[in-house]
Amino acid sequence: MSHHHNRATFGSKIGVILATVGCAVGLGNIWRFPYMVGSNGGAAFLLIYIICIILLGLPVMITEFFIGRHSRKNAAGAFKVMAPGTKWSLIGYNGVLAAFLILGFYSVVAGWTLEYIMQALDGSLTGKTAAEFKLDFEQFSSGIVRPIGWTIAFIALTHIIIISGVKEGIERASKIMMPMLFLILIALCIRSVTLPNAEKGLAFLFNPDFSKISSSVVLSAMGQAFFSLSIGMGCLITYSSYFKKDTKLQTTALQVTVLDTLVAILAGVMIFPAVFSFGIAPTAGPELVFITLPNVFEQLPFGWIWSTVFFVLLALAALTSTISLHEVATAYVHEEYHISRKKAAWFVSGGVLTLGILSSLSFSVLKEFTIGGLIFFDALDYLTAKIMLPLGGMLICIFVGTRVDRKILKAELTNEGTVPFHFFNTYAFFMKYIAPVAIGLIFLNELGLINRIIKLF
Ligand code: PFF
Repeated sequence: MSHHHNRATFGSKIGVILATVGCAVGLGNIWRFPYMVGSNGGAAFLLIYIICIILLGLPVMITEFFIGRHSRKNAAGAFKVMAPGTKWSLIGYNGVLAAFLILGFYSVVAGWTLEYIMQALDGSLTGKTAAEFKLDFEQFSSGIVRPIGWTIAFIALTHIIIISGVKEGIERASKIMMPMLFLILIALCIRSVTLPNAEKGLAFLFNPDFSKISSSVVLSAMGQAFFSLSIGMGCLITYSSYFKKDTKLQTTALQVTVLDTLVAILAGVMIFPAVFSFGIAPTAGPELVFITLPNVFEQLPFGWIWSTVFFVLLALAALTSTISLHEVATAYVHEEYHISRKKAAWFVSGGVLTLGILSSLSFSVLKEFTIGGLIFFDALDYLTAKIMLPLGGMLICIFVGTRVDRKILKAELTNEGTVPFHFFNTYAFFMKYIAPVAIGLIFLNELGLINRIIKLF
């Protein structure tokens, strides 16, 4: 390409990894993962989740890193430079749309974390029974002004960071916040596993009951893997377009994947012993973390300090993810429509605000308005995590597997042969064949097609 955008790059190697970890680690690990495990039968789900992370997550992540750094473009622009004049750019549009839709419900949950910071500070999270915590959450989330107010506040926060480019500050802050989040998770895990009946929770999480596996459990696990790793939608394409020439792509992918999975498992160890100890239903759904954790804080000396710090860290983890989602959409609008970054950001925030308000209202006045039996909030979650992200991941693999010369792929992934990639052939095989076929089969299985075909014989 003759004209070069002068694209920013991340400041340092540790900055690259932190920003990418910040994008991956978020509500997906601490809010969504435990509730998915709880609603999908426990350990069997965890097992399939880990298989999906290794077989699909890692190869797709490496492939996205390849596309991003090779093209140095946003999620949609990347396909336009790599395959001009073809329909492959649809992958990018799918991703941009997914980012936008995810933000629509993610900001609502992020808003909930702000409410819980306030409640922790004003003492409302103390001295209650498990049943009262549940009731409180339900009253709050089915309200109108407070949840919407917090959703707007969170979108505003994301917007300010996106337009003022204080990403640097965020990078630096995450250097302290991420390790802190890790430490507080470990402390809460210890408290949780020493509660009475904790072993029931650990058995639920780690002792698989294979009869619980069904096509919907497999689809949910795959969706969770994509959601948690932020893959299949070009977010990592956008981030890796800012990577430096000497960033080791496969090492970074491995580090991000391991850290992300570790945080999710720690969240599980923090939640499930407490769920069983306090007699909460593991199938409670999106409210699970919010009704379980206050019980754990009750059991700690200076519970309000623990809960405040925890929810502040959770809000920050959510913020580093909403920034990445917003960035995907903003970078796309800015670069492809040639309007200023600021205007692009306003455009995105306005749309997200609309979706966020509708999602929040779907717990109250819009409860009866369902799409395929799901309230608006759940419909956005289902559509993105279980359909758009895996579909995007499948197409990304097919694109690179069929359209990109192996030599170019290898050169980019080994930084022009300067770093070794011992498992390159294995990776290429998984990316080209295993991942697309496995994702395709999981879709067909969920649609019931495989069963029908088997019955034919
Ligand atoms: N991975 C984030 C989380 O687990 O919270 C959510 C997310 C961020 C999904 C960015 C997709 C994405 F592009």
